[in-house]
Amino acid sequence: MSRGLCGKVLGVPASGIVTIRDMKLTMTGVVGLESGDPDFDTPVHVKEAAVGALRENFTHYTPNSGIVPLREAIAKKLKEKNGMETNANTEIMVTTGGMGALFTATQAVLSPGDEVLVPDPYWTSNMMQVLMAGGKGVSVPLEYSKETGFRLDPDSFMELITDRTRAIVINTPHNPTGMVASKEELKALAEIAQDHDLYVFSDEPYEDIVYDGARHYSIGSFPGMKERTITAFSLSKTYAMTGWRIGYLAAPREIIEQAYKVQLYSVNGVNAIAQKAALAALEGPHDFLVDMVAEYKRRRDMIVERLNSMKIFECWMPQGAFYVFPRLVDVGMTSMEFVKLLLREGKMATTPGSIFGERGEGFVRFAYSFSFEYIQEAMDRIEGAILGL
Ligand SMILES: Cc1ncc(COP(=O)(O)O)c(C=O)c1O
Repeated sequence: MSRGLCGKVLGVPASGIVTIRDMKLTMTGVVGLESGDPDFDTPVHVKEAAVGALRENFTHYTPNSGIVPLREAIAKKLKEKNGMETNANTEIMVTTGGMGALFTATQAVLSPGDEVLVPDPYWTSNMMQVLMAGGKGVSVPLEYSKETGFRLDPDSFMELITDRTRAIVINTPHNPTGMVASKEELKALAEIAQDHDLYVFSDEPYEDIVYDGARHYSIGSFPGMKERTITAFSLSKTYAMTGWRIGYLAAPREIIEQAYKVQLYSVNGVNAIAQKAALAALEGPHDFLVDMVAEYKRRRDMIVERLNSMKIFECWMPQGAFYVFPRLVDVGMTSMEFVKLLLREGKMATTPGSIFGERGEGFVRFAYSFSFEYIQEAMDRIEGAILGL
């Protein structure tokens, strides 16, 4: 007998990736490219700052919105790197990862029934957090072609705007496709947001991971966008700090005030030691980034070449993040069936495109946040698994 559970939460699907994880748990010796967790180590000076914090007994509650020096360092970084002017006291909140930034912000802004435009394919949480806040996620198809890969098409957004539309989600560089939104695309979306009085949730955890001269732009820095842009940043990817769970939110004061309450009455602030580590990370040095991005690029070039040589993949060269999202060509299977085949026949785990939305069906995501040799082994296994196709 059930006493009843929250309809809103019940209505949020559990991730399809659980099927793959469960299968994987019954096997040994699996090589997996499903998780977007950098294989690099957190920089030494960052770890030292955390050790220092422990030694100094910096192990108590901190202000709910984050320690002042960290918020000041964030404001400085936002100004210098992202071109965003923010007030460290009123327009920034330190959060539990980028995820905490998105969660507190969606809870603070959305009301039941609010429609939010989410480019599809999407990072699953970008859609689920809208649902968790009681909103209605509206899929906006990304444009896809073999030559240009995935692109944001402003007209597709326009077509789906109704009088219930409250916000647009943007994630660039993009998970799962590796797309980097161009300045022109973002400008067009900024215009739409202003014309229709919409908020923009901008999710930017991969801001430092771009290739081939591509540039990351923060839409919150565009003229007229500060008052309507809610940006989630993370230390997870840039500094290989996924387990530290630290990120931050930049938003107009009235939103931070409400997000503050969500954080206060849920987790009551962020881990003190991780905040000291984040401060050291933001203060630098940042020279390690050049080598890190060069290594991701080397892996990207290899994985794209290997996948394209297999003929059953049409793999476009992504410009950012650390994912490739090839289209399956004539395999006669859903992406989930194909991924199950790879696991069964090749002991190789990856993520079916279908978990990233309707538009993800027919594609597969491979993360290349693993060593070159490990990725090569994964590619060898795929070749073995598809021999019979
Ligand atoms: C697109 C996107 N946004 C946000 C996040 C959140 O990362 P974290 O909560 O570790 O900062 C991730 C993590 O994979 C991501 O891929």
